Parts: sequence; C-alpha cells; structure tokens
Amino acid sequence: MLPTQNPQDVLNDESRQFALLVNSVTDYAIYMLDKNGTIQTWNPGGQRIKGYDAAEVIGTNFSRFYLPNEVAEGMPARNLRTAAEEGRYVAEGWRLRKDGSRFHASVVIDPIWVDGQLLGFAKITRDITERFEANEKLLKTQQSLFQAQKMEAIGKLTLGLAHDFNNLLAIIVNCLDLVAVRVKDPVVSRLVDTALRAAERGALLTRQLLTFGRGQPLAHEALDLGTVLAEMKSLLQRSAGESIEVAMEAEPGLPTLYLDKSQLESAILNLVCNSRDAMPTGGHVRITAAMQRISDPSVSEAGPRTCACLRVTDDGEGIPTDQQARVFEPFFTTKPVGRGSGLGLSQVFGFTTQSGGFPLLTSEPGKGTAITLCFPVSEP
Ligand SMILES: Nc1ncnc2c1ncn2[C@@H]1O[C@H](COP(=O)(O)OP(=O)(O)O)[C@@H](O)[C@H]1O
Ligand SMILES: [Mg+2]
Repeated sequence: MLPTQNPQDVLNDESRQFALLVNSVTDYAIYMLDKNGTIQTWNPGGQRIKGYDAAEVIGTNFSRFYLPNEVAEGMPARNLRTAAEEGRYVAEGWRLRKDGSRFHASVVIDPIWVDGQLLGFAKITRDITERFEANEKLLKTQQSLFQAQKMEAIGKLTLGLAHDFNNLLAIIVNCLDLVAVRVKDPVVSRLVDTALRAAERGALLTRQLLTFGRGQPLAHEALDLGTVLAEMKSLLQRSAGESIEVAMEAEPGLPTLYLDKSQLESAILNLVCNSRDAMPTGGHVRITAAMQRISDPSVSEAGPRTCACLRVTDDGEGIPTDQQARVFEPFFTTKPVGRGSGLGLSQVFGFTTQSGGFPLLTSEPGKGTAITLCFPVSEP
C-alpha cells in the first residue's frame, strides 16, 4: 500500500513511478527472478494471468509455471542460461495457471547485470491464448477449404474420365456381342467371354468412379436405418470374418431417410471391410445409428446441424494422421496390389455427399477408427 502523499510527489519520485507502473499493469505478468529463478516480485498482471497472489509465489521457483515434462527436461534453467548468455530469451509456449489449466504464453526474459555481475532476471509474460487459438482456427479453416477444393477438383476429373471410359466400354461390349453372334468357333467364344468379363469389371470400376464424382444417378427411397442394418447383419458378420465381432445398435424413433438403398449398403459394407482389414488379428466393429448435432468440417463456420448419423467404429490399427486427409480420394490405398482398389471410401464419400450429407473421420493410430455418415434432417 502506498502511504498517502501528494500525487505530484509520487510522480516525481522515480522508483515510485516504476512501482506504480508495474503495479498498474494487468495485461502482462512482470516480475523479477534471482539468478536461480526464484521469484522476487509479483504484479497484478501475474495474478490475473497465472492466478497466484504475491504471497503464494514470491520465494518459489518460476519453474512452477512450466509443464511437468518441460521441467523434467530442464527447460526453465536452460531458458535462464540462454537469457544470460545471449542477452535475452524470447519464446512462445504453453504454461500452467494455478488451477492447472494451460495458457499460451509469450515470454521474454532479460538478464539484469549490475557492474558486470548477474543479479537476476526480469521476466515478462503475456497471455496470447486467444490470438493463438484464433490463428489455429484460421489455419484449420484454410486446410479444410483446401481439402474441399481438392476433392471437388478430383471429383470433376474423375467424373469426366469415367464418362468417357464408360462410353468406350459400351462400344467394346457391343462389338464383342456382335462377334459372339457371328463367329461360332469355340476358341473364339472363350476369348470373347474372357474379354466380356474384363469389360464388366471395367464397367464396375467406372460405376464406382461415377459415384465418387457424384455422377451416378441415385434411386432414392424411404429407408429406416435400423431396418437396413438389421437386414445386413449376417452379411456384415460374414464379411468381417470369425475373429471380428460385429455389434449394431440403432436408436429407436429415427426419422425416415430418403437414400439410395444399394449405395447405402455398399457404403456400409465398404466401411466394415476396411475395419476388417485394419484388424488382422481380430477385434470389434460397432455400427450405430443415432441422431446427433454435428457440423460439417469441410464447410468453415458452419454451425452444428441435426443429423441422422450412421457410424462404423473399430478398434483396429487406425490411420496415420498425415494420411487422414487423403483416404477419401479415389485410388488412395495402403493395401498391397490385389487387396485394395482405393475406391471403397471414395464410394462412401461420393454417395454421402451426393445424398446431401457429409462423412466424418476420426482415427487414432493404434487405437481405432470411426467413420460417420451424417445426413442432415430438417429440424422440427
Ligand atoms: N477402418 C480403417 N482403419 C484403418 N485404415 C483405414 C480404415 N478405413 C480406411 N483405411 C485406410 O484408407 C485407405 C483407403 O480405403 P479405401 O478407399 O476403402 O480403399 P482400400 O480399402 O481399397 O485400400 C485404406 O487403404 C486404409 O489405409
Ligand atoms: Mg476399402
């Protein structure tokens, strides 16, 4: 407490001026440390940002503000050394408040030299959590916009290619049919059959590509997710194999959805097969259908919407973080030739988006993966 004094006298006294200045600042923690990092002074900014009052911190080491792993690595003492040796330490990082919560700090440490002797350090900390989080959010928005644009571009390219390819395949199939009618030689018939089968596989491939490019006409019908799942139960369990347990649960009272049933079934099967491939030694697949409020991550600033969500969760190997943005692209596969076409999730993506929904991926390497098909429903 400053004793009552003529305000003008206070302002003329230099040391008082500094005390006043430091004690009026609440946006910055400004305090002094001795050579070993023991806190010598404290200001209201320190109290506001870190939550401690002066009596709690003066005399204790400033390393208490660091995260435990950073203390274990010797970071607080190292930062003081850097300040002493290089004349200043400037950094940003996470620090701890009294209540254990974290804040993003901008930190400056200056050494205090008197007559060539290191007396201690002046330390200024600012809470820049808001700015940091705003930047992170901006970065994320930019990334999801980029991702959406990339999928759009690949979709257009794929669609164009698939259309042309389909037309070529139609000509090949027609000609082969004509050859089969005209030539009765059994050897030629066999060759024609083989060629036709290959053309059919090509046609299947182009259909999947058309689905990804959202160029496949959808046959909407009124569906109940619970019924669709129940009908598929034995097929899914068979596809998953014996070492994998498939469980399903549909919330009662789900709204009727208007979707293409065969595309929906393909999507569910694709998801379950991916889960199976991710659990070579067995595990669990859980399929749920439930209402949820959820936002489309590819639309920045979109608020949550009420969606009917179909989710396939497994406890398999998960997807490495750097691959997560690519798994919906056509032909992206990590499986050996012959095992993966890379078209499963692109079918899932194309079908879901063409149906007015969006897919959502969460995956943790080593723990498992969940893919959710979200179909927004109009709110009552
Ligand atoms: N449930 C999952 N667990 C782990 N990885 C997955 C899962 N689902 C998809 N993936 C990854 O995404 C890739 C693309 O999947 P997909 O489009 O179905 O193609 P494919 O299964 O033919 O490789 C897979 O190769 C795999 O790396
Ligand atoms: Mg697949």
